Amino acid sequence: MLSNPPIDPNQAVVIKPSSQFYPGPYQTRVLAVDGARAVLQVPLHQGKVVLLSVGTKLEVTTIDGNRRFLSEVLARNYTDTPTLTISLPAHENQHVKTAKVIAVTSGKGGVGKTGLVINTGIALAQHGLKVFIIDADLGTANVDVLLNIQATYNLRHVVDRQKDILDIVVEGPGGIFLVPGGSGFQSLADMDTTQLQRVINSCKTLEAYADIIMIDTGAGLSKGVINFILAADQVVVVTTTEPHAITDAYAILKVTSEYQPRPRCGLVINRAETAGEARQVGERMAAVVRRFLQMDLDLLGFVPDDPTVSKAIKRQTPHILAFPNAPAAQGMRAISRRLWQPAEPEAGERSFFDRFRDLLTRGKDSHRPPRA
Ligand SMILES: Nc1ncnc2c1ncn2[C@@H]1O[C@H](COP(=O)(O)OP(=O)(O)OP(=O)(O)O)[C@@H](O)[C@H]1O
Ligand SMILES: [Mg+2]
Repeated sequence: MLSNPPIDPNQAVVIKPSSQFYPGPYQTRVLAVDGARAVLQVPLHQGKVVLLSVGTKLEVTTIDGNRRFLSEVLARNYTDTPTLTISLPAHENQHVKTAKVIAVTSGKGGVGKTGLVINTGIALAQHGLKVFIIDADLGTANVDVLLNIQATYNLRHVVDRQKDILDIVVEGPGGIFLVPGGSGFQSLADMDTTQLQRVINSCKTLEAYADIIMIDTGAGLSKGVINFILAADQVVVVTTTEPHAITDAYAILKVTSEYQPRPRCGLVINRAETAGEARQVGERMAAVVRRFLQMDLDLLGFVPDDPTVSKAIKRQTPHILAFPNAPAAQGMRAISRRLWQPAEPEAGERSFFDRFRDLLTRGKDSHRPPRA
C-alpha cells in the first residue's frame, strides 16, 4: 500500500523557487495530484504571473507547515488557467532511489579533499545528476566560503533541532546542492552518538532527492569519520605525492581494511607534477595495499598541480567553472567519470544512512573481524 502523497488537491501551499528573478515565497493552490506529479495554479506576484521556467527547483511547504519537500517545475501552461506541473517526492513505501554516497577523506589535512568534492560534484551535476555535498568537516567547515555562499543555517541547527535538513540546503554554483557544515562548531570527532544519529537521520531524507551525495569528511580518523567511511558506497582517499601524505593515506586505508564488510576504496593523487609521477605513486600504493592489506584500490585519477586552483579559490569560484579548460579541471572531469556508477542496491540492501545508523548503534568493535 502506498502512503499518501505529500499534498492534496485544493490544498494551499507555499513555493520557494531557486530563481534569481522570482525568489518568492509565493502562496498558491494545488489543482490536481497524479502519481509523481502535481499541478499547481501559477502564483501571482503583485498581480503578475510568476514566470517560472521548466527545471526551476522549488521548495514546497503546505500552508500548515506540516509537509515540506524539494521539487522541480516539469511543465508549464500559460493558456486559460495558467498551471505549473511539479514533481512530487517518491512515496515512502515506493521504491526510493538510493543515492550513491561517496565519502572523501584523507590522512593528512590540506591535500585537496574539499576541492575534489566541489569540482567533481559540479562535473557530475553538469551531466544532469542531482548532486548533494555534505560538509561534514564540522568545526572547520568551509565549503560555503569556497563557494561564496552566505549560509544562514547549517548542520549545527539540525543537531540542535532548530531546523529540518531541507531548511538548510542551499543551491550552489554549477547546479550542486550544499548541506553547510558550520565552522566554529563542535567537530564530528566530538559528537556523541545521539548527535551523530540526529545528523544521519536527517541526511537520510536527502537520499530521495539525490543521485550522488558527496561527503567531505575532513582529515583524520575520528569515530565520526570512520563511520562515514564504513557506511559509504565508495571511499575516496586523497593524497598528494609528498611522502608524509602518502603514509597518512596508507594509514586510513589500513584502518578501513580492518573492518568488515570493507567499503570500496579509491585513490586520487592531487598536485602531481606530471602524469608519470601520479601513475607511479598510484601504482605503488595499489601494490602495497594489495600485498599487505589484501584490498583492491581503484585508481580514480590525478589532478596536476595547477595555479588556476588557487586563482579560482581567491575568486571564490570553483576552478572547474572559472578555468574549465585548465589541466586541473580536466583532471576533475576524468575523475568524476570514474566516480559515477549508480548505486545498484541488491534487493533488500540497506542505504548508506541505514548502514551508518547500524554502525553507531552496534558500537565500534562489533564489526571488526576476529584477529588471528
Ligand atoms: N591541484 C592543485 N593545484 C594547486 N594547488 C592546489 C591543488 N589542490 C589544492 N591546492 C591548494 O591546496 C589548498 C588546500 O586544498 P583543500 O582545501 O581542497 O584541501 P583539504 O584536504 O580540504 O584541506 P583540509 O584538510 O584543511 O580540509 C587549496 O587552498 C589550494 O591552494
Ligand atoms: Mg577541506
